[in-house]
Amino acid sequence: MKTPAGIYIHIPFCAVKCMYCDFYSIAEREDSIPRFINAITTEIERCNMDVSDWGIDTIFIGGGTPSLIDGHFIESILTSLQNSFDISSVKEFTMEANPGESPKDRLMDFRSLGINRISMGVQSLEPTLLKFLTRIHSVEQVFETYENARSVGFHNVNCDLIYSIPGQTWDIWERDMERIIELEPNHISAYTLTLEKGTDLFKLVKDKKVTMPEDGQTAEWFLKTHEIMESYGYSSYEISNFSKPKMECQHNLHYWRIHPYLAFGPSAHGFDGQNRWNNSRSMDHYLQQIESNKSPVSMKETLTQKDLLNEMIGFGLRMKDGINLSKIPEKFKNKFSGNLIVAEKKWEGCFIQTEKSISLTKTGMVYGDAIGVDLMVD
Ligand SMILES: C[S@@+](CC[C@H](N)C(=O)[O-])C[C@H]1O[C@@H](n2cnc3c(N)ncnc32)[C@H](O)[C@@H]1O
Ligand code: SF4
Repeated sequence: MKTPAGIYIHIPFCAVKCMYCDFYSIAEREDSIPRFINAITTEIERCNMDVSDWGIDTIFIGGGTPSLIDGHFIESILTSLQNSFDISSVKEFTMEANPGESPKDRLMDFRSLGINRISMGVQSLEPTLLKFLTRIHSVEQVFETYENARSVGFHNVNCDLIYSIPGQTWDIWERDMERIIELEPNHISAYTLTLEKGTDLFKLVKDKKVTMPEDGQTAEWFLKTHEIMESYGYSSYEISNFSKPKMECQHNLHYWRIHPYLAFGPSAHGFDGQNRWNNSRSMDHYLQQIESNKSPVSMKETLTQKDLLNEMIGFGLRMKDGINLSKIPEKFKNKFSGNLIVAEKKWEGCFIQTEKSISLTKTGMVYGDAIGVDLMVD
């Protein structure tokens, strides 16, 4: 049987850089789009990895704001993928789209190219919070873009939301969730606002101009958020991800299940089952490398069996399915069991253990990162 696998394409262009965002994205560089498309298609066509035993079943075009790019450019990328890999088994093909930055005719073009899932960056439905987050879309544009996506034939739509934003009350967050749930998206990602180094938000907090919500409040909201999502039939299959039955994001599941994936574009990172690599996180360097027939890869590391196990522990604890015990290599089984016994005492009430898996209770998920560290083998 072929190894399930995915392809990630990174499109770094954005209309503005949001104050909280640490993804590699650049504003005011639209003039570089045609050059970038030439580079990424060259990168794809030059890729000579043997993926003949991979069953590529997902493609994810993320960013940045890929919905800023015209359909014909996306078509060029797809043609390069088709020329280079067997993508005939792709079932889920996602594109990230920003409200107000994905006009209906462009959404129609994307749909006709075979893209079948839209991931919308809603973030909030409170105008003052959208402003605080330096988002340029309005609340009305969220509903308009959602309607447009549905009307041009997207049967699989995700909405990204952010909570625990400074100035957000529980009532605002609960109302936002309920308004989004009323739309009946197939999938909702609800992230707590993370303070990322190097962002404007980080500087504002450091300069004491903004105060982040306390950890205790974030933990309480996390638990209540999960309760609300589940009461409306959105299963929390991962710490920040909720889906209607059978609508889990298969591409993200590849990451969390440590499946291999190819990755193209600046800052994109790939994995072949043994090695992880990163492309350059600079558009200019990425373009220069490709245009001078050089590799855009800026970092590559080979994972040991122990590294892979520790990744499996870290990602496994994020998922409802937990860590698949049958995947723990024989030589680490004793060490892992020892760590588990100690952790179960320290983190009482945080584990769910079955014959086949170890997963976390909701309370356990609040402390997931620290619990993961305690379970990892050294
Ligand atoms: C690759 S990003 C952006 C996609 C798209 N450009 C947008 O902004 O809607 C995917 C998602 O990550 C989330 N995100 C980005 N930075 C975050 C942060 N610092 N804390 C929490 N969530 C974040 C947002 O919900 C965003 O929609
Ligand atoms: S959140 Fe989205 S729109 Fe904002 S800078 Fe990041 S990638 Fe661009």
